[in-house]
Amino acid sequence: MWYPKSIVVVVAAMALCVLPCTAAGEGTGQPLVTKITRDPATALYTVPIKDGQPLVLDLSGPIVWSTCPADHRTLECNSVACMRAHRFHPPNCPHTGYGKPDDDNPYRCKCTAHPHNPVSGDTASEDMTRVELSANATDGKNPLGPVSFTAVTSCAPDSLLAKLPAGAFGVAGLARSGLSFPAQVAGKQNVPNTFALCLPSVGIFGGGPFFLGEASVITLLLAGYTPLRKFRESPGYFIQASKGISVDQAPVPLPDDAPIIIGLSSTIPYTELRPDVYRPFIDAFDRGMMVWNAKITPPPAAAPFELCYNSSKLSPTRRGYFVPYVNLGLDGGTSWTMYGVNSMVQVDRRTACFAFVEMKEGKTGYGGRAAPAMVIGGFQLERNLVVFDEENQRLGFTGLLTARGLECGHFNFTTMAA
Ligand SMILES: *[C@@H]1O[C@H](CO)[C@@H](O)[C@H](O)[C@H]1NC(C)=O
Ligand SMILES: *[C@@H]1O[C@H](CO)[C@@H](O)[C@H](O)[C@H]1NC(C)=O
Ligand SMILES: *[C@@H]1O[C@H](CO)[C@@H](O)[C@H](O)[C@H]1NC(C)=O
Repeated sequence: MWYPKSIVVVVAAMALCVLPCTAAGEGTGQPLVTKITRDPATALYTVPIKDGQPLVLDLSGPIVWSTCPADHRTLECNSVACMRAHRFHPPNCPHTGYGKPDDDNPYRCKCTAHPHNPVSGDTASEDMTRVELSANATDGKNPLGPVSFTAVTSCAPDSLLAKLPAGAFGVAGLARSGLSFPAQVAGKQNVPNTFALCLPSVGIFGGGPFFLGEASVITLLLAGYTPLRKFRESPGYFIQASKGISVDQAPVPLPDDAPIIIGLSSTIPYTELRPDVYRPFIDAFDRGMMVWNAKITPPPAAAPFELCYNSSKLSPTRRGYFVPYVNLGLDGGTSWTMYGVNSMVQVDRRTACFAFVEMKEGKTGYGGRAAPAMVIGGFQLERNLVVFDEENQRLGFTGLLTARGLECGHFNFTTMAA
């Protein structure tokens, strides 16, 4: 590799929000950094923010929830936090009031919320409470020391932890709501309501700059921004591909000219496409691959992937296998391009498959109504710095970092005392 071993990535737009550093502490205007771990068994990402214990990252989750001790504080129904907790409701979970009478004091209404497990699809109804969460303050280069703050969260029964990674105690919702983890960090740390994920390794909450490795070359890497869109009642992140989807510059013919809405999810392993979009998309990639004459019958291990190739006939490059690239022509004139690293998964020693799957009816949590055309999953989000800028209602991304000799895992987690 002829690229300098360590390059600094300064995300310029995020640098606007840096304030002078004082000590690590509450409300000091410093962003927080957390190490992210990908659980191989579930392909879910966790952050150790509750007494060092992991919570699952959920881009579509409007609240933070975890299991609670039997004796915990509860919030009043008429509190602002309770109103916020009821701003968004999980799919198929109607609003039935803000809470229920307190067992100890029937004149007091204690707030309940609806913690939702994005993997099992289960929803519970449990007390709203306050817990201590913690992460490290950061200058964008190193952690500066731990910061704890009290956050408004929902309790949850142990049964709601089903299908989450072993050892996870709940879910850190990252969605566009007042009680999401980034929104609460913004309020407590007095930083902008924006965060960046560099999956599978690191998350930064509250703005930048952001560095990967030592200073030697300063590069502005954000490829651009695209506006965040609302989609139905969902609190999640959506963008629009008004210039369409293409494979090696050939537009994928889509059935109608309805807007192409694209969601982002940290809780599905691979990008899912609505059936009417999946078929022409897969066909376009298949056509683009004919030149390699490498297609094989998918081995059983390849399910649910449909297009698989003899990987010894494919050429490895810095961007992964040299295969047709997938391009999303986004609003605002930017493009999200996916190369082999993000499009081909090695299912066994000899087989690489096109890592996009067909959306299953009813699984997507849009209440049976039309789903977005595409939901980008973890495999396609990785090795890319994605900025979720709620402050300016836009989404930024760098594109594939490995193509520039950078890795999310190069973030320097050695603590620098402030
Ligand atoms: C802060 O960073 C240090 C060093 O990386 C780490 O050991 C510690 O667990 C972090 N603390 C929190 C609260 O994340
Ligand atoms: C894969 O390609 C290699 C090299 O062309 C060939 O030797 C091998 O037989 C192929 N394997 C399969 C399963 O087609
Ligand atoms: C990580 O940061 C520390 C503190 O700034 C520095 O001493 C060390 O050299 C850095 N490590 C790497 C691998 O860049």
